[in-house]
Amino acid sequence: MSFSSYFTHKSGGDRIFAVEAPKIKFGRDSLLEIGDDAKVLGMTRVAVFTDQRVGQMEHVAKVVESLKSQGLDAVVYDQVAVEPTDVSFKSGAEFAQDGKFDGFVSVGGGSVMDTCKASNLYSCYPADFLDYVNAPIGKAIPVPGELKPHIACPTTFGTASECTGIAIFDLLEMESKTGIVSPRIRPNLGVLDPSVLSSLPPLVRAANGFDVFSHACESITARPYTHRPAPESSQKRPLSQGANPYSDLACLEAIKLIGTHIEQAVNDPVEESYDALMFAGMLAGIGFGNAGCHLPHGMSYAVAGLVKDYAPEGWPTDHSMVPHGISVIVNSPAVFRKTGPACAERHWKAAAAMGADLTDTKVEDGGDILADQILGMMRETGIPNGLSGVGYSMDDLDALTDRSYAQKRLIDNGPMPISRDELKEMFRDAMSYW
Ligand SMILES: NC(=O)c1ccc[n+]([C@@H]2O[C@H](COP(=O)([O-])OP(=O)(O)OC[C@H]3O[C@@H](n4cnc5c(N)ncnc54)[C@H](O)[C@@H]3O)[C@@H](O)[C@H]2O)c1
Ligand SMILES: [Fe+2]
Repeated sequence: MSFSSYFTHKSGGDRIFAVEAPKIKFGRDSLLEIGDDAKVLGMTRVAVFTDQRVGQMEHVAKVVESLKSQGLDAVVYDQVAVEPTDVSFKSGAEFAQDGKFDGFVSVGGGSVMDTCKASNLYSCYPADFLDYVNAPIGKAIPVPGELKPHIACPTTFGTASECTGIAIFDLLEMESKTGIVSPRIRPNLGVLDPSVLSSLPPLVRAANGFDVFSHACESITARPYTHRPAPESSQKRPLSQGANPYSDLACLEAIKLIGTHIEQAVNDPVEESYDALMFAGMLAGIGFGNAGCHLPHGMSYAVAGLVKDYAPEGWPTDHSMVPHGISVIVNSPAVFRKTGPACAERHWKAAAAMGADLTDTKVEDGGDILADQILGMMRETGIPNGLSGVGYSMDDLDALTDRSYAQKRLIDNGPMPISRDELKEMFRDAMSYW
């Protein structure tokens, strides 16, 4: 690829990137068309996945009504765990198998959409739980065939799970998050209705906004696809291909939208804020769905998995958790300071898109400028002050490092090789920022 030196081919690297574009509908009242969409996909008996809080809201009622208006049978499963685990994935799969459904609709955040993907998978192709889970934790056996149709309706805007072939969960025995990755678990259709966001609590909006931002920023600063070893065959090219010109486009625009709207969207939202956030989430999803995330997400799985007693406002209080967007963004400034020199211009461009004042700055300081910009926005939107703000101390550095060093897929997708010691150093730097 000659138009950007970042994509200059490295010996043994891939020369090809593939674009998997999700099928999407975007706009207010798009939820009212679900019945029609489900019918077109051949559904007659539909499992509607949600969690207990969203299940009480009008969003699920609208979807069920729309399905019924088309003569479809709809059964609601509202037992999805927020921040799901292997145990809650298995419960969803049992429900899916017992109910003899021919289609799935998920209405909720990433927790709900991911649980629905996994439930569809294990009910179609029962297997030992770790069979489809990412290596080295699981066996990463390819999904054997097509799943039943799934329409995903996000009620948050951060995860873009409606766009991706990824399902994330907490593997309880390992106290760490991991996932299942396959193009076959990508929903057949994502339906994004921004009006659903008005009921999100402010800190959930902030956490989602930073999840979007980090998806986009990690994709732009990921290892170029031309440096990833060429696959043995086209079928073995991974979903996380590394930075590429297509994902760059979507991600820069997503960062701009988040930079422009996040503070207002958290502190004093107007209708336009929700449209912008949801569109940004979708764009970043298209970007990271093809490029892949790297260190902030790889580190986040340990931060979420080893949680102590942190229980933030806006999430269910029945158990401690470091919600996804928070577990990611507390690492990001430390990571971008470290990765800055590997592709300074990309960090600098991301900071510019986010609205940083670049007067009298140097491109080679891109990593630090980006980190400072993120920190300013974290403070404006009530995000905790690094790892110490979510309950960790220096005594936890080894445990955090070991858990995340196992996230090989994500660590390898960073712009530079990272040793265990360097990873530990980043966790140390992320402990407290201000
Ligand atoms: N599959 C992927 O590609 C991917 C990417 C990033 C994150 N994830 C995963 O997604 C999960 C996090 O998802 P999330 O951030 O979307 O949040 P979530 O689904 O965990 O929901 C967070 C809270 O917000 C509530 N909620 C959801 N929509 C609401 C609404 N419209 N109004 C009021 N409350 C609402 C939920 O009931 C819950 O209490 C994590 O498990 C994370 O690991 C998946
Ligand atoms: Fe994420």
